[in-house]
Amino acid sequence: MKQPKRQEQILRHAIGAELLHPENAPIASFLDWDGVEQNVQQLMAAFPSDIPVLHAFAAKANSLVPVLLKLGTFGMGAEVASSGELSAALAGQIDPARIVFDSPAKSWDELRRAMRLGIAINVDNFQELARVSHLREIQASQSQIGVRINPQVGAGSIPAMSTASAHSKFGVPLRDPGMRQKLLDAYTSRPWLRRAHAHVGSQGCSLKLIADGIAALVEFADEVNSRAGRGQVSTIDIGGGLPVDFDSDLPNASFAEYTDLLKDRVPRLFSGDYSIVTEFGRSILAKHGMIVAYVEYTKTVGGRKIAITHAGAQVATRTVFMPEAWPLRIRAYDPSGEPKPNDCHEVQDVAGPCCFAGDLVAQGRHLPLLEPGDLVVLLDTGAYYASTPFDYNSLPLSGVYGVENLSSNLRSTVLREPQWNPIADPHMSKIQDLAG
Ligand SMILES: Cc1ncc(COP(=O)(O)O)c(C=O)c1O
Repeated sequence: MKQPKRQEQILRHAIGAELLHPENAPIASFLDWDGVEQNVQQLMAAFPSDIPVLHAFAAKANSLVPVLLKLGTFGMGAEVASSGELSAALAGQIDPARIVFDSPAKSWDELRRAMRLGIAINVDNFQELARVSHLREIQASQSQIGVRINPQVGAGSIPAMSTASAHSKFGVPLRDPGMRQKLLDAYTSRPWLRRAHAHVGSQGCSLKLIADGIAALVEFADEVNSRAGRGQVSTIDIGGGLPVDFDSDLPNASFAEYTDLLKDRVPRLFSGDYSIVTEFGRSILAKHGMIVAYVEYTKTVGGRKIAITHAGAQVATRTVFMPEAWPLRIRAYDPSGEPKPNDCHEVQDVAGPCCFAGDLVAQGRHLPLLEPGDLVVLLDTGAYYASTPFDYNSLPLSGVYGVENLSSNLRSTVLREPQWNPIADPHMSKIQDLAG
């Protein structure tokens, strides 16, 4: 989310419109469409305009249909990694020709469906390549096919998010003994393999590490083409993974810094011999989203102050389970949406509603003293947070709203209905029916 001022504007709008309410909407999440649109424009401006580039938003970062629909209107396609994400992208009216299917575990059924629809596929391994080869023989398809390559350039600072390490489960390991040759032979014997793909990691990878991975990928594609004596590989898919700065209020990602580095390190990528696909997720949305939750109770335990809020592992799963890798900034507001005074900081834990002790979104954090009825804002949570909930304790899904300026007023639209109101919740009304 852009600036503290913008956050406060959205917060007050949400309270006024009762998108947040201490009794029946104690948590909600917001995406600032104006900020996202500007960010996407910066992404597009960072790539050369004389080369075909498809910016396929990584749907895993936020697969709500209205989100994919909106990003489609901004000119993005979609990268999907499951049948569900594929269905979401199609429901979001993304043209099948602008969808890319990546997953290390594509089933026969998923492959058949993608090939029937003409969705581009990045094959993960040789066994999958054999399946696709077989399906191509028995089913006509417009699908562009590529191979996901693990350039094995190393891991970033979060091992669980690093996909170009020596032992990553993704892609064909290019530097393993004999693999480069085996892959070259696979391309040579299948002239319809027209793409090459790499995704070095998601958060925690430096731009330099990512660029090293793309350099290895393009070098491989050049080798295929020189062997083939023609431009067999015509599209390079550089994946996503641009790291997001979770420590500052700077609104947008450094797309231009990234492409400047690529121009320097991998000039062949921009030679005009290749069209380009990107798969950014977090860098598109994270900074333009926030989760807001009410403080329900506060207590002091063993000398430690704890605020029990409605935001925990169900919306901030990675932060709760891997707090060192995914720390979040938190801001404190009073019930009317005014910032809590900054002069009375206390060391506090900020806990969620889940019924396990580790459900903490912050530990030992210096924050204005939180009281029941206050609001906590979890910043930079537009991607991989509320849209990817953890179904623990059967907590209801929080509402997700898009907010944008409309002739100097803020307008919000529902991206996902909240499940809170028991009357509106079909499960609850069923239970009430049963109870007579
Ligand atoms: C294949 C692939 N592409 C793109 C992405 C998106 O990464 P990010 O959201 O960091 O840009 C991921 C994330 O896991 C991925 O696995």
